[in-house]
Amino acid sequence: MKAIILYDTRTVGGSTDTFIELLGQKLAKTGAYVEKAKCKAVADYSFVQDFDVIILGAPVYYLLVSSELLGALIQSNLKKYLKRKKVALFLTCGSPEPMATMMYLPQLKIHLMRNKILAEKIFAPDQLRNEEVLDGYIEELTQNYRTAVKQRDASLHWTDEALEMLEMIPPFFQNRVRMITEEYAEEAGYREITLEVVEEAKGEMER
Ligand SMILES: Cc1cc2nc3c(=O)[nH]c(=O)nc-3n(C[C@H](O)[C@H](O)[C@H](O)COP(=O)(O)O)c2cc1C
Repeated sequence: MKAIILYDTRTVGGSTDTFIELLGQKLAKTGAYVEKAKCKAVADYSFVQDFDVIILGAPVYYLLVSSELLGALIQSNLKKYLKRKKVALFLTCGSPEPMATMMYLPQLKIHLMRNKILAEKIFAPDQLRNEEVLDGYIEELTQNYRTAVKQRDASLHWTDEALEMLEMIPPFFQNRVRMITEEYAEEAGYREITLEVVEEAKGEMER
């Protein structure tokens, strides 16, 4: 699994930074390749295409999810490139979990109505200090990812022609084309990936 943690915080070296460091380390120990990137409201997010899983998270300040992450979802092309992506969500905050689940998580989820959410979790101060809670979040994320990929692989079949075409693409670009095509085929309900499906997927991404 290739994952990226897209996050925001106003506090350098604060609780979110510490949490993300640990999240990245623990996720990497499961065999995942992990990168992290701090969000800016206005930026080019086309790089998220290269990742299987996008983990979005931030603290809450004054009742709102931190502004650069929310801003990125509203003002930039992040939402476009998150289309069809598997995502996981987390928030760090001072409120108890039930309240934060009701008040703050929807601020992110409203932008991700069509995404497969592998895991979502509120990390209130006592949970931030509890590694078992983080382990549980990672377990849920990785387990749900494996199940989703297994289901997709079982239902999708590349035709020989489509595979031959894929093999003609330079290796550094091959994975991206494979991933985009499979995500497109999965959403469109195709069971077989033909040359036409690859073309359709390409056309969709160029829109
Ligand atoms: C200025 C400020 C405002 C905050 N507002 C809220 C809030 O409205 N709701 C909440 O649950 N937590 C709130 N918190 C708590 C933070 O979300 C929590 O401490 C978080 O872990 C801070 O992350 P950071 O250390 O990366 O900045 C606030 C904290 C600060 C410093």
